[in-house]
Amino acid sequence: MSTINYSEKIPNNVNLSEDRTLQRALEHWQPNYLQWWRDMGPEGSNSFDVYLRTAINVTPEGWANFDYVKMPDYRWGIFLAQQDENRKVNFGEHKGEAAWQEVPGEHRANLRRMIVTQGDTEPASVEQQRHLGLTAPSMYDLRNLYQINVEEGRHLWAMVYLLHKHFGRDGREEAEALLQRQSGDANNPRILGAFNEKTPDWLAFFMFTYFTDRDGKFQLSALAESAFDPLARTTKFMLTEEAHHMFVGESGVSRVLQRTAQVMNELKTDDPQKVRAAGAIDLGTIQRYLNFHYSVTIDLFGADQSSNAAIFYSSGLKGRYEEGKRTDDHVLKGQTYKVLEVVNGQLIEKDVPMLNALNEVLRDDFIKDSVAGVQRWNKVLEKAGIPTRLTVPHKAFNRQIGALAGIKMSPDGRVVNEAEWAARKSEWLPTPDDFAFVASLMGRVVDPGKFAGWIAPPVMGINRQPVDFEYVRFG
Ligand SMILES: [Fe+2]
Ligand SMILES: [Fe+2]
Repeated sequence: MSTINYSEKIPNNVNLSEDRTLQRALEHWQPNYLQWWRDMGPEGSNSFDVYLRTAINVTPEGWANFDYVKMPDYRWGIFLAQQDENRKVNFGEHKGEAAWQEVPGEHRANLRRMIVTQGDTEPASVEQQRHLGLTAPSMYDLRNLYQINVEEGRHLWAMVYLLHKHFGRDGREEAEALLQRQSGDANNPRILGAFNEKTPDWLAFFMFTYFTDRDGKFQLSALAESAFDPLARTTKFMLTEEAHHMFVGESGVSRVLQRTAQVMNELKTDDPQKVRAAGAIDLGTIQRYLNFHYSVTIDLFGADQSSNAAIFYSSGLKGRYEEGKRTDDHVLKGQTYKVLEVVNGQLIEKDVPMLNALNEVLRDDFIKDSVAGVQRWNKVLEKAGIPTRLTVPHKAFNRQIGALAGIKMSPDGRVVNEAEWAARKSEWLPTPDDFAFVASLMGRVVDPGKFAGWIAPPVMGINRQPVDFEYVRFG
């Protein structure tokens, strides 16, 4: 068990004090990070005492430490999962060789790009969620938002550590640039599309943490297989933090559904206008939010066919989800995988070399995992006796990246013409009216134990505290 040294300016379990150059570089970056947090982190929150968890060691149980913390004083730092001295590369052309402790020259540019791309998503999500604290539906939810925000901040630290430690001057410049790009900025946006979208309200936040943090889980899992051992160890520890983010999303949407179903049953109606008039979110709006967040998130996996994906895998930089549990040869030469394409207005499947389709493989793993949670949401409706069910839209719906980009497709998977798309888009994706309605529900409810009328309370509190615990002290 590797314990984290909190006596240092930058908490770490990588013996930072023995590497003076690196320590100086990171101490130089730290004030810029804190400035970014003050400028772009959760609005108006710097003086609050928040009941947050901080890791004390890097096992999953290491998360047991809860206390009140002012967020700018959160102990961000550098925590890598335990090293396995005998670790071997378990896929690609270097399969069976010892894992790399240093970056091989020929893979330097690709590894740097992968680390920067992952790193860029972390501060982006904090920026996207910056204003949500002002409209929290409860003190419990507010605390969960802040917990996610500080952990995304730490994920940025994790990637910046790798850049500083292994990529010299280029790495230091990239680390600065991670604090300069800004989500949604016209001139200097974040790298990936979904991280420039707005997260305007708490329904969007729950959908984001359910779907888009789950993209994080799959990307981090693939990087946790990397032959470059420091990247594997860093991302492995980040995964322990990601689980809570997805829990917030899944349970958040469940609680919204629970409240909606309750209102529908009380009023004996499925009329969306009546549900709205009673202050709950109608199921149609929830489905449209789901369609949007799902489709934007599956774009994050990239083009369905990609020669880069093949290079990343064959050279050992990025594996598949649960690479170690798969029973094939882990080299994948000569194997094929099915991808979708539209030919003459018809959606067809075609076989392509699997190595080129690894983005699609990861996307399909994500889809399976996402669908499981949507089924758990449907259980809430089923239990309440509501016949409506939520579904994830077809993989080709509303895509902007890859062979399916720009194809007009209904959520149930029919290629539609421009006229039908234009006529029915408002049934399938959130409309300005939906956003305005959800926004109208967003008031600030932060008395302990009180909840906004559009969401049910959780079954239990955080760290076995009661639901009406004082999770945030406003001071
Ligand atoms: Fe993250
Ligand atoms: Fe996350």
